[in-house]
Amino acid sequence: MELAGKTAVIIGGGGGIGRGVSLGLAAAGMNVVVADLESGTAQSVADEVNAAGNRAFAATVDATDPASLDELARLVVRENGAVHVLVNLVGVITNRRLDKASEGEWAWFFEFNVMAHVRGNNAFLPHLRAHGEPAHIVNTSSMAGLLALGPAMVGGFNNGLYTTTKHALIGYCDMLRMELEPEGIGVSVLCPGLVAGNLSATSARNRPDRFGGPVANPREGMAPNSAAMPNERVGPIVARAIAENRFYIFTHRDPQQLVAERHAQVTADLAFLDAQSVGETGGAHRAFRSGRPPE
Ligand SMILES: NC(=O)c1ccc[n+]([C@@H]2O[C@H](COP(=O)([O-])OP(=O)(O)OC[C@H]3O[C@@H](n4cnc5c(N)ncnc54)[C@H](O)[C@@H]3O)[C@@H](O)[C@H]2O)c1
Repeated sequence: MELAGKTAVIIGGGGGIGRGVSLGLAAAGMNVVVADLESGTAQSVADEVNAAGNRAFAATVDATDPASLDELARLVVRENGAVHVLVNLVGVITNRRLDKASEGEWAWFFEFNVMAHVRGNNAFLPHLRAHGEPAHIVNTSSMAGLLALGPAMVGGFNNGLYTTTKHALIGYCDMLRMELEPEGIGVSVLCPGLVAGNLSATSARNRPDRFGGPVANPREGMAPNSAAMPNERVGPIVARAIAENRFYIFTHRDPQQLVAERHAQVTADLAFLDAQSVGETGGAHRAFRSGRPPE
């Protein structure tokens, strides 16, 4: 789709990757609405876009609240006439073993890493449909949505809640893309590698009271990871992917080998089944493609 002159809403745009995406879509000629729970950070990103000679305004939204999302959608249409692109970046991370995670922590992760995206899309879909022009949704997963990186691979960090919910979001995006494709609405899933951002800090300070309230930032006092990609480099990648309607949006090539190894594991375990001569696998394979609903 042509981006110039169209409007994009970036939810979670007040920092990190959201800042990069806001700058990048604005540089591609879009009018950008930088929406965040934290109004100050949203405003400073909007100021940065405007200072670069592009167009943005800031808005406050709680991506876990359908009424707040509806209000944002109405505000954007009132101010800009229409909305063509929605980018959801909200997420949370914490260091917790799966066998130690409470019901409340599971609910917190599904709320932010899955339902905030579902709710944002539901609030904006009527407006993405209303103008009859091409439109696009980007939801944000992670390389952790495609890989399971155990503590040994990530400095002892227990990524289980994050990995589980980021995997769930990719399944949602894959199915949503198929549902919306006939209407000319594209769906992408952004799967960043390591990019400069503040996720540990924003997760800790914005945890709602219903999930236990704010906690101390586990990275307090730690220097930013110098290996992280500057977030402004993600913007042009996302702009190109939207324009070309790509499904996966990657920022790094280095996990490619790990993805290939994971898929090789799937292939090897399918071959393991074949090796047991269960007989009916050819028929089952045809059934997947038969067009019939699941039993
Ligand atoms: N930075 C990375 O290396 C990396 C890698 C892979 C995936 N991701 C994903 O990218 C997304 C953004 O990560 P980031 O590192 O830029 O984080 P970040 O914390 O810098 O940005 C997230 C933004 O979302 C906002 N936010 C939090 N709760 C909100 C709510 N209820 N409503 C509206 N806004 C809310 C925060 O205030 C913050 O500005 C996350 O989904 C994260 O999982 C990040």
